[in-house]
Amino acid sequence: MIFFESIDSTNTWAAAHFAELADGELVVAAVQTAGRGRLDRTWISPRGNIYASFVLKNVSGPLLGVAAGSLAVLDLVRELAPGEKFHIKWPNDVFRGTAKISGILAQYICPRNGAPGGLVTGIGVNLNMSRDQFASASQEATSVSILTGAPCDCEAALARFESLLHIHAATLRSAPDTLFARWKSENGLLGRRVEFLAGDGSRLTGLFRDIAPDGSVIFDEDDGRSRTLNCGDVRLLTRA
Ligand code: BTN
Repeated sequence: MIFFESIDSTNTWAAAHFAELADGELVVAAVQTAGRGRLDRTWISPRGNIYASFVLKNVSGPLLGVAAGSLAVLDLVRELAPGEKFHIKWPNDVFRGTAKISGILAQYICPRNGAPGGLVTGIGVNLNMSRDQFASASQEATSVSILTGAPCDCEAALARFESLLHIHAATLRSAPDTLFARWKSENGLLGRRVEFLAGDGSRLTGLFRDIAPDGSVIFDEDDGRSRTLNCGDVRLLTRA
């Protein structure tokens, strides 16, 4: 594990140093001063939470690395807040009901020589965020400590998270179909009515019917058209 007390963003650092980093390396920071989220959002990053970027070499695309990351988060938060119900919200957020507890920002690194690429999977997990610290968040969010009512030991959680990541990364190599099947089955949006904010800014409503083998959403629009969508954000239209 490579640890920084404070850094702009573990993803920015890991992507810039990708060639020197080993497969399976985890880059971690106690604080991020310019944490980044998907769709150009900011990831608020005060002390007390997990900010980590996981390096995978020789992967053919981002899907399975992201699946390994979100399953490691899911297993972690289920251990830290037993009795709470968590699910993956496509593509890779982890939610408790309607509130987000973790987000993932994947950066696929393409070598110029056509060799298999690599992946930096940046993962933020809210362990000790308070309601006040979420005041400027763009969406409903929660943390382990809000759910349990007690502080969460960040160091112990990080150590457990690292081992869970390695377990799922090993499955990625030995049994990718098993990893994909579990990631898909943990997705809380399957079969639900959702609003899909597509990459071009358009909003579609309909049924989140299935997830294709490449990770895209198979979406039945309210007007009857079926579409395959691979980029965007999804919001449940009815309560989980
Ligand atoms: C999202 O939900 O929008 C993704 C959030 C990803 C946050 C993590 S924290 C560690 C890594 N470094 C970053 O700057 N972002 C990711």
